[in-house]
Amino acid sequence: MEKMIYIKPSQKDWPIFHMKSPVKIKNLRGSNVDAFNQELENDIRDSGDRLQGATAAKCYMTQWDMHQEYDSFKKLGELVISLAKTVPLANATNQNGDPRQYDYEVADSWGLIYEKGQFTKSHQHWPHTWSFTYCVKGCDSCAPLVFDDGLGDGDSGQLFLVSPNVGQVILWPAWLYHSVPEQECEHERIMAVGNLTVDWEKSVIPVTEHKLTQPPKGENN
Ligand SMILES: [Fe+2]
Ligand SMILES: [Zn+2]
Repeated sequence: MEKMIYIKPSQKDWPIFHMKSPVKIKNLRGSNVDAFNQELENDIRDSGDRLQGATAAKCYMTQWDMHQEYDSFKKLGELVISLAKTVPLANATNQNGDPRQYDYEVADSWGLIYEKGQFTKSHQHWPHTWSFTYCVKGCDSCAPLVFDDGLGDGDSGQLFLVSPNVGQVILWPAWLYHSVPEQECEHERIMAVGNLTVDWEKSVIPVTEHKLTQPPKGENN
């Protein structure tokens, strides 16, 4: 009879790897942005502080399905999805080698209000694909979003900081660790944030095939 071999994985020797991952920053512009931000802020206040500091975020935090309850968050989700679709994380192809584009859906979304002294501990959002924040209220002196995975080792690791400004979208691969240090401004720092996952149903047919598919006979649309 074969002898069982028991392998005990050692945490100590576990390999460490660093990934090159994009952090995308874009600003929403247009005459409607102020009204849009006001709507987001109202909806965040309307939803109320549901999590009461139970998560990594030690500040006011709404329910996690804001995109299903409020049009403002639904709209924001659509905007972020259109942005994410322009940033493939790999060159995917279908079976005949044509490029394939993946579509996304909002998995969850919520609102955050940081007051002076509040912060969020380091965490990430695996297994979601993309995470995003949208700055509803804040200034460039407000607490930044810090990507603290680091490119170096341990405490000497390089940090990547993004200071907020109103209308700013930050989009990053969900598995990157991030945190927010203590808010030092006297005013509120308000964020609408969420996660995207692949919408597999919409991604089954590659874009190139969408174009090639003829409408069924008798339909002229
Ligand atoms: Fe987060
Ligand atoms: Zn500020």
